Amino acid sequence: IIFDNSREGSAIVAKEIADLIKQKQAEGKPCVLGLATGSSPIRVYEELVRMHNEEGLSFSNVTTFNLDEYLPMERENRQSYHYFMHEHLFNHIDIAPENVNIPDGTVTGDAIIEHCVAYEKKIKDAGGLDFQLLGIGRTGHVGFNEPGSHYNSATRVITLDHITRVDAAPAFLGIDNVPRKAITMGIATVMSAKRIVLLGWGQNKAEIINNTIEGEISSQVPATYLQEHKNCTFVLDTGAATEL
Ligand code: GLP
Repeated sequence: IIFDNSREGSAIVAKEIADLIKQKQAEGKPCVLGLATGSSPIRVYEELVRMHNEEGLSFSNVTTFNLDEYLPMERENRQSYHYFMHEHLFNHIDIAPENVNIPDGTVTGDAIIEHCVAYEKKIKDAGGLDFQLLGIGRTGHVGFNEPGSHYNSATRVITLDHITRVDAAPAFLGIDNVPRKAITMGIATVMSAKRIVLLGWGQNKAEIINNTIEGEISSQVPATYLQEHKNCTFVLDTGAATEL
């Protein structure tokens, strides 16, 4: 779906998420959301916060799983995805803290693998992802599934692509400060979601959006795997859609 601007696209996506939360509430069921960081979802989170404040949208039945976190990374660090999510969403809504799940960037050694396996199990135990929100990196990554990521990959440690580190450099005040690794949900984790919405804003995403939608499915552009998902929508603005 192509919108004139990211504000309109974000409002539609926020409404879909809110409707899902309310539908699950009416059924007396939990709602499990997979969430993304980066600039792309910010307006969706703003709109969800607005609906919470102005329309009484409650997140009391919501459990969230974030896609990824840098490794190593302290929670309090302003560059952490933990910080980002609290700043943009969790601090402003009525979600129970124990229902918020973000990969832990402080784990070390053998505990990393245990953490990844436990994260994956926790998603399954929660009943699986009802909805997964995605952005896209210029390498074609979703979460931090960089080129080379296998279709069957689960939550794991990944080495960040150079382009990804270049894109993150301004936020870290220089590429040398950007972590070299991250923990990310896998492609299989993302693909297991019942519904996926990928957000793409601006002309600098046009080339990768074109490769993702019109290119061959390939591990070299991991987002192309989404072509095989049965219920996935790309929500774009005119800038991101220029090469389609
Ligand atoms: C990071 C995140 C991705 C995100 C990407 C694009 O790499 N790990 O989940 O999609 O950035 O970020 P932006 O939305 O700022 O373009």
